[in-house]
Amino acid sequence: MSTATMDRVEAASAASHLITVTFRIRRFNPEVSAEATWQDFQIDIDPKERVLDGLHKIKWELDGSLTFRRSCAHGICGSDAMRINGKNRLACKTLIKDIISPDKNGVSKPITVEAIKGLTVLKDLIVDMDPFFQAYRDVMPFLVTTGNEPTRERHQTAEDRERFDDTTKCILCAACTSSCPVFWNDGQYFGPAAIVNAHRFIFDSRDEAGEQRLEILNDKDGVWRCRTTFNCTDACPRGIEVTKAIQEVKRALITRRF
Ligand code: SF4
Ligand code: FES
Repeated sequence: MSTATMDRVEAASAASHLITVTFRIRRFNPEVSAEATWQDFQIDIDPKERVLDGLHKIKWELDGSLTFRRSCAHGICGSDAMRINGKNRLACKTLIKDIISPDKNGVSKPITVEAIKGLTVLKDLIVDMDPFFQAYRDVMPFLVTTGNEPTRERHQTAEDRERFDDTTKCILCAACTSSCPVFWNDGQYFGPAAIVNAHRFIFDSRDEAGEQRLEILNDKDGVWRCRTTFNCTDACPRGIEVTKAIQEVKRALITRRF
């Protein structure tokens, strides 16, 4: 078989895997209108591809003005959290085949994609992350030690390391905070992600600022605002037990043991 024929066979075989999917995307451009509107895009795509691939296809082939954040495309940078079919997810970790349900004629409902809630939308799927990162900075997300400059590594037992292992996995995607009804109603609440990152240091045996962080979270906009709805745990793409971490911080505030 000639190379050209082989190319045609490969192209035909690839095309046979494609399905037609409608992306229903909530668009917002403050330079055009004060109102957000839904816009449909129909694309042919392999269902094993991800929602991010679909968004790229739309941006690169249909409408270059579609605006969204993404960087690593592999679930590491946390920049592409969005509401997909009404649930917070990372677009780069969400396979098309997992969120469509074709009827008997093979036709699926549109995939809805919109910006995460509770943060001001700047354009299309991009929100203003400043309040989110301010809450993160406010809990002092760094190791604090005084007067004990080490000459070698700061040692820690495996058991002590285990206490905060789960909360080290956070990629600051904001899927948890922007799925929290308390945060939607009052953006002053620190939110789950900030508490997760406070937890990461409060329970670190090498750190000396646990009391300080607990007092920060004892604030009226702190940890007591949590209503234990578990939305945050459900939303976390890293599988962090966010609600459990929040409960541990609450317990540490009561017992002052951590
Ligand atoms: S805890 Fe999970 S959902 Fe929340 S910011 Fe971190 S990785 Fe994202
Ligand atoms: S693009 Fe980096 S986590 Fe999705």
